[in-house]
Amino acid sequence: MKKMILITMLLLAGMGTSLAEGRIHILPFPQQVEEGDGDYCTSSEVLKVAAVKEFKAELGLFKQQLKDDRQIKVSRTCMKKADVRVVKAVVPLAGRDGSYRIRIDGAGVLVEAYEASGAFYGLQSLAQMVRKEEGRLVFPQCRIEDWPMLSWRSFMLDEGRSFKGMEVVKQLMDDMARLKMNVFQWHLTDDQGWRIEIRKYPRLTEIGSKRDSTQIGWYEWDTYDGVPHEGFYTRRQIREILDYAAARHITVVPEIEMPGHSAAAVAAYPWLSAAGKEIKVPCKFGVQYNVFNPADPKVLAFLKDVLDEVMDLFPSQVVHIGGDEVRYDEWKNSPMVQEFIREHELGSPAGLQVWFTNHMAAYIESKGHRMMGWNDITGEQLHDFQTETSEVKVSLSPEAIVQFWSGDYSKMARSAERGNDIVNSFNEYTYLDYSYEYDPVQATYNWKPISLKKAYLFNPVPEDFPEQLKSSIIGSGCQMWGEWIPTVEKMNYQVYPRIAAYAEAFWLPAGKKDYDRFKENLQPFLKHWEKHPVPSQKNSDSCTCRQE
Ligand code: ACM
Repeated sequence: MKKMILITMLLLAGMGTSLAEGRIHILPFPQQVEEGDGDYCTSSEVLKVAAVKEFKAELGLFKQQLKDDRQIKVSRTCMKKADVRVVKAVVPLAGRDGSYRIRIDGAGVLVEAYEASGAFYGLQSLAQMVRKEEGRLVFPQCRIEDWPMLSWRSFMLDEGRSFKGMEVVKQLMDDMARLKMNVFQWHLTDDQGWRIEIRKYPRLTEIGSKRDSTQIGWYEWDTYDGVPHEGFYTRRQIREILDYAAARHITVVPEIEMPGHSAAAVAAYPWLSAAGKEIKVPCKFGVQYNVFNPADPKVLAFLKDVLDEVMDLFPSQVVHIGGDEVRYDEWKNSPMVQEFIREHELGSPAGLQVWFTNHMAAYIESKGHRMMGWNDITGEQLHDFQTETSEVKVSLSPEAIVQFWSGDYSKMARSAERGNDIVNSFNEYTYLDYSYEYDPVQATYNWKPISLKKAYLFNPVPEDFPEQLKSSIIGSGCQMWGEWIPTVEKMNYQVYPRIAAYAEAFWLPAGKKDYDRFKENLQPFLKHWEKHPVPSQKNSDSCTCRQE
């Protein structure tokens, strides 16, 4: 299977096409590169490094990384004797966090950064440039000035559907760090599983983190693997992941789905839904009918308790509440919910969802955080199953961050006009569960394939987006949804190498991208992913999954 993944990756990356010119091979490619003619060579096979005190931690990780990935020894020394010096810049380049400058000449290597993430990214670039030659280490002479186009460059992992575990998450974060991606969106709850310990409500994990079996194949197929699936993260494990992420300048944004995609929570506490019926954690994928009841003060109190524990644990300013694909059937059938809609003059279940979202946004803001949700939270009609409920009399708080995934760019523009910041995660370009090539099964849902090239050419700030609204697009993300990735191997196949294409698409403006150059710079990553496959999860071999 591993071999097959590598061959596929090489084919997808278009091996054998002409190589782009240039001596600087960095991915994502820097904003400005001036190449020199010569090299800087160290006097031995040990790289001598020094950094100002603010950047010592970044240097420590660089040292470890060169040792693990390239078997290069790094030793710390004083500034005067160092091959590589990491110093503080007077100002950030382009006013951006994450910016850095590298100067390599005959005398040595100088990395300048204003703050720690810039130093970290400068060292990541350096790690990609160093070559081993005849007992020495060699760097191409050059000047680089670099900064990210977007401040939010995310990868999302859906563990609600498919629990992967600590080692997989850490490995993904290692690759994100190499690719200068800085937000790990952790989709921790969904209909098919609740994956985060909440002390006040232990049944969320006792009941909600386990299901009897898992649907395989496709949404309409009546096929199940018959293998129980379970898993959740304790608070201690989450702290370990958060430390791991922080060292790599990755912010972990927790996503706790509400009011929909909440069947696992309802299985644990049936009173959370207006129907109040006992259910089991679903084994079937697709949008479920069990949703939280926002008209019940006890349910709102429950959700605030959950968010309190989440905000206590995660340092991220942003808290994601999901908000996508809410089926309104239970709300329409509940006299209590209908009365609530009338009393608050909300007009429709969609209006109730906006009211609920604003209520949670205000709570999250009162705790010094900021709410984010999928673009369903705007109240715009996105799904066939919501057609009859389009009247919305309330509008979304302008403080909320809207993660655009569905509809067309006019919807994204309307959110920007209303003052919301946007993360562009348009499904047609950024969903990692979409196949690389035409797939007749996925085509039944109108899922169009996303080739490596299509992923690379994705422009998160569309050219024809209204000029005055472009600055509202603060970021972009790629999303690994969990329905059809029962094994780590299958997940890897979907993620690699497209994650690298997104990393460059989020870092560089369209005018500076070059697909041939990208394919060439991808080669060392492909080799790395061959040598360091993501470790297998415990039960990865026991599932029967559709083979490529
Ligand atoms: C989504 O894909 N349901 C956000």
